[in-house]
This record gives sequence, C-alpha cells and structure tokens, in this order.
Amino acid sequence: MRDPAHQHPTRPLLRIPQVERLLAQMTLAEKAGQMSQYPGRRADPEQIAEDIRQGKVGSILNAGTLERRNELQHIAVEESRLGIPLVFGRDVIHGYRTAFPIPLGQAASFDPILVERAAAVAAREASEAGIDWTFAPMVDISRDPRWGRVAESCGEDPFLASELGAAMVRGFQGQDLRDPTHIAACAKHYAGYGAAEGGKDYNSTHLPEQLLREVYLAPFRACVEAGVLTLMSAFNDLNGIPASGNELTLRRILKGEWDFLGVVVSDWASMREMIQHGICTDEREVAIQALRAGVDLEMASRCYQQHLPELVESGVVPPELVDDAARRVLNVKHQLGLFDLPYAETPKSSVAVCAEHRELARQAARESAVLLKNEQGILPLGKDLRRLAVIGPLADDPQEQIGCWAFDARAEDSVTLLDALRDRLRDAVTIEFAPGIPDCRSSDRGGFAEAVAAARRAEVVLVCLGEIANMSGEARCRAFLDLPGVQTDLLRELSETETPIVLVVMAGRPLVIGAECKLARAVLYAWHGGTMAGPGLADVLLGDVAPSGKLPVTFPRTVGQIPIYYAHKNTGRPPQDDGKRIPTGTPLDPRGMNSSYLDVEASPEFPFGFGLSYTTFDYDRLSVSPLRTPVGGSVTVTARVTNAGRLAGDEVVQLYVRDLVGSVTRPVRELKGFTRVHLAPGESTQVEFVVTSQMLAFPGRDMSSTTESGKFQVFVGGDSRATLTTEFELE
Ligand code: GLC
Repeated sequence: MRDPAHQHPTRPLLRIPQVERLLAQMTLAEKAGQMSQYPGRRADPEQIAEDIRQGKVGSILNAGTLERRNELQHIAVEESRLGIPLVFGRDVIHGYRTAFPIPLGQAASFDPILVERAAAVAAREASEAGIDWTFAPMVDISRDPRWGRVAESCGEDPFLASELGAAMVRGFQGQDLRDPTHIAACAKHYAGYGAAEGGKDYNSTHLPEQLLREVYLAPFRACVEAGVLTLMSAFNDLNGIPASGNELTLRRILKGEWDFLGVVVSDWASMREMIQHGICTDEREVAIQALRAGVDLEMASRCYQQHLPELVESGVVPPELVDDAARRVLNVKHQLGLFDLPYAETPKSSVAVCAEHRELARQAARESAVLLKNEQGILPLGKDLRRLAVIGPLADDPQEQIGCWAFDARAEDSVTLLDALRDRLRDAVTIEFAPGIPDCRSSDRGGFAEAVAAARRAEVVLVCLGEIANMSGEARCRAFLDLPGVQTDLLRELSETETPIVLVVMAGRPLVIGAECKLARAVLYAWHGGTMAGPGLADVLLGDVAPSGKLPVTFPRTVGQIPIYYAHKNTGRPPQDDGKRIPTGTPLDPRGMNSSYLDVEASPEFPFGFGLSYTTFDYDRLSVSPLRTPVGGSVTVTARVTNAGRLAGDEVVQLYVRDLVGSVTRPVRELKGFTRVHLAPGESTQVEFVVTSQMLAFPGRDMSSTTESGKFQVFVGGDSRATLTTEFELE
C-alpha cells in the first residue's frame, strides 16, 4: 500500500530556513527525539537530563517550577549536540492561578469575548510560570452527562463549541505567538472522544462519518481556522480505529482537507495504548501506525524514540513522514520564539491572581450562573432581609468550587459564597452557616438537626448542594446523576420548615434535580465557578446583576433519557407524549406508537439554551430578508427584543434554523447565532443575524460540504424551544 502521506498530499509545510538547516543536520535519532514528550515529574530526573543531552526529547509536560523548566532547557540548549530548545506544556484548562469557571460553566455565559479574555489571562499567568503551551481548549462535543469530561467541554452544540473554542484559541495564542504573555493552544481530544459508549471515559465511539464530520469535528475545524497550533489525538477507538492511529481523521481530514500545518500530540500514552486496544502487537507496530496516521509528537510513551530510526533504516516507513513530523515540531518551537528566547524570565512582579484577573473571574462566575427557577421573585434577595441561613458544605469550600483540571489554582486564593455573603451583608444581615453534612457524598445525617434549626430561625435559607470537583473530569463518570449522598434528604428536611429555600447547585455536569427543584423557591446553577465563585454568585443573589447564563447542555429528567439533546432528528414518528395513557386489557393500542417512553415525558427537565433572568423578555417583529435567495446567497434575520419587566437584565438572544428537507435527515433545529443584549426595564432593541449559505452547509451523502436549495425555518428566542418563527427559501 502506498504510504498515506502520498495518498493525501498536504500543502507543503512552512519552510523556515533555520528549521530546514537544522533538519538537514539531524540524525534519525534526533528527529525521533523531537517527536517525544516526557512527563517532567514521572521519570527519573537524571534519566531525563541524560536523554535531553542525547537529543532524545523534544518536549516536556509538567516540568514543575520555572527554575526546573530553565534547568532542563539549559541542558537542551547548552549540552545537546544541536542545542534545540524544548517546548514545555501543561494543562491550563480554565485558568492557571486564577481559576475561571469550568469550561462548561464558561460556555453557559454564551460570551465569546469573556471566554477569550479569560484564556488570555490564563496565558499571562501560565507563561510567567514558564509554560509555553496549554493542552486546551477541550472541544469534544458531549451529549451524555454521565461522561465526567463534559465538565471540561463547551457542551452539546457544535456551533457554540466552535465559537467558544476559537475564542479560547485566540485568547491563549493572541495575535503574535512571540509575545511572551501568550502560549500555544491545543484543541483536544481529536476525535469523537465525547461520544464514549455509555458515558464511560476512554470507551469506544461509533460515529457514522456524516455525524462525525457534522457534529464532532466541527469545533476542531473552527479551532484550526482560528489558527490553533496543535491538536491532541484522543484515547478512544473511533469506529474500530484508535484516534491516535486514525489515518482518516488525522492525515486525510485534519492534515489533508483542512491543511493543518501544526503539531498533533498524542494524549498521555494513547499511542502505546493501541496495544491494549488490540490494534497493534507491540510498540514497533504502534510507531508505524501512529506515524502513518499523522501523530507528530508522542506524549508519555517512547515508541517513536525507540523504533523510528530502525523503521526508517529498514525501509518500513519513509523518511519523509519523520521529516514532516519533526519539521512540524520545530516550526511550532520557532513560531513560539523558543530558538531566540529559550528561557523563561522570572517576572519582576507577578500577575498571578491580581485584582484585574480576579475581577474578570468574578464576571465569569456571574455570567456563568444559570437561573432555573425563581418563584414569587424570591431572588434577588431583598434589601430588607435580616436573617439568612446558609446550608451545605459547598457554600464554604474554597477547593471544591475551583472545579476539576485546575492544578495550579490554590484554595487560599478562593473566595467562597459564605465569605462573599458575610463580606457583603456583614452588619445588615445575620448569617447563620450550618454545613448539614460533612461533604457531598457523606451519608452522615448527624448535622441535619443543626441545619434545620438554623433554617427555622431564618427568613430565607440558601442551600448549596452538588458535586465535589473530583466527581467530574477525567475518569469521573457516573451511572446516576442524582445529588450524591443524602443531600436530597437534607433538602427535604429543610423544606419542611416554613422558610423559603434558594437552592444553589455547584456541579461539573447537568444533574437530575427535578424533585429538588420542587422543594425550592429558586434554583441557581453555578457549576464549579472558580476562584471568585463566591463574589460572582453573591452579585447575582443580591441583585447587583441579573443572571444571564443559558444552558450549554440539556438537563435530562432522568438518566434513562440519555442521550438527550435539542438538535435531534425528527424521526418518522416524533414523540407525542401520549404513551402513558395506554389502557390495560387491550391488544396493541394506536396510542404511543411514536418515539417516546411509557414512563417519562420526551422533553428534558431543562432545555439547551434555557436560563431565566430577574426580568422577562418579549420577542416580536421577526422578519427575514430576502425571503428567497439563491444557494450561495445569504439572508438577514431581524427581531425585536423587549425587557418587559421592572429590572434591567442581559438576554442571550438565540437564532435557530431548521432545514425542512435535505438529502440526509436534518436536526429539528440548530443554533446558528447568538448575541447578548442588555436592556433596561421597558427598553427594546432590534437584533440582527446574517445567515449565509455556508452556515447551512452539511456533509452530504458523499461527505462533501453541501448546501441544498429548499425551505428553511428560523426561530428566535431565549432558548432552544423558541417559538417566534418564520421561513425563507434557498433557490
Ligand atoms: C490526560 C488528558 C488530557 C491531558 C493530558 C496531559 O490524560 O486526557 O486531556 O491534556 O493527559 O495531562
């Protein structure tokens, strides 16, 4: 078989003279060395030093301190034969020392500008610590909240994940990568990782190519188009072929069709795990398959380092593939300016957790919070409030509120919700705190009585429940999505007092909380809000700002509904929710003969895009112009939005489109635009969206990007159930 590289010629890589001169001098072992990334703290320090000296290492992840990083760099630059600098990577997923809300929480802001600024802050803080490269953004589409890594994602929708993933790339990388306050980004985990069977991490994924391209690859393509320097290949086997050995996704699509010129790094030993997958017999075979597929840099295993020189010398793999990979790695180092400035400089004054960064993290916590319920306007808490009970360990846990994948954020920098409320309400309100339970997973009811007593003495009881940070993230999958432990029992006992409840949920995923919501007057979903979760949530609860977050992921009524997501297909028998009234004692009954359950509604607990404010917004005057346009043309959709309440607020206005007839079945609606508007009471504004033919394209039966003529329905509103609708036609 001809080598894959020749089957799908990519655009010639950047030819940088300094890199080309180096390549011409490098031995095969040195090229294989550039394709090897060592964990900085897993291996024997002496061994690392010696291997760097011998030119066997191209990159280090998790080097540790800036001093350690420069020490290793000194060995590479001063003691190895060619003096090629190392590139240092680390997971800076939602902040470095200043932790922002988990990415799923940031996604709830529907605010690309905020998300970009947060990534830029993360880059500033990380680069000051000697980090050149972050393994973020994670843009895996996830429609199964049992999967713990939904916390790290931008949710279920490819349009939203594309917008936010590209914003994070811009934030991390900035306009000029030689700017020392910016770092290389890495779109991960390519590809299809979020479709793990059963929501079990690392598990198999089965995605028809049409769905793979339309939904799961879209955010990665957006990151490539935003200029992301690197991608990370995933752990999962995709349609029978591991993502780290998948020639279709890596060489044909990413490097071929999309002309990606950067580096593909494997996930942690995901190359070597192809032996576990049963697709490779040994590490030599791993090196062959991964190289042919298009992985350029091997993380945390050494198949390339050990086997590539022999594989080239024996003619099993062509030298061009090794040159291509090594060139990509060297080009990235050059683009980062590492050849000129290989050492990180200790800053004169640190920007870590500075006031400006804290303020942005506070804004992010505010905008990420999603108001799911607010009966009788119990929120915002009234100025006349005098006695408040705060219940639940998460109300005062500076570590858990940070969330998963935030190794460098410190609990001592966090401000908890209790801290913030005490600080804000210090003299005016008596605040009584009772954890009620030792921690989220505890079954110890010993603290219930104290909590109930505190609730009885209060005018409002604020109950903070959810998951600890380590119940989401990598390898943190759940078969049930209920509140862990005895939290629901605690809430039920509190609800038996006369004191109205405001429930704040801190979690890394959607939880099944329908019953709990019934026990509370108001429900605010706070995700894990990061270092400044407390002040951000207090700003919302006290009414400094109205909540504006919208759900980036569907909330199921029960785990049995999963997968459940808004952009589903119509099927030939859409759900009618009539199945529960099937009489007994009769043969087959025509009722229920549609795609629904006998024992739960087809609708979710809360839909994608949903989120309340302290005011209400009315939508009208929807129009589209022109009503007909040729394929290749575009239309402009306008609508009026009015703040119909008595408090100011932000609204994320959403535009959905439905392709009524296509050559493949099309989703009942797809997000194609969103914009945030701020309106004073009674104020109106007109929103405008331009919908281009390209935005309506999808992979057709031949997998090529296809825009077809026909009728399209548009919906504009405050969530994915928007009812204000009209039509246009592509001729
Ligand atoms: C992990 C994760 C990946 C991370 C990498 C380095 O296993 O899957 O997201 O970037 O290893 O820490």
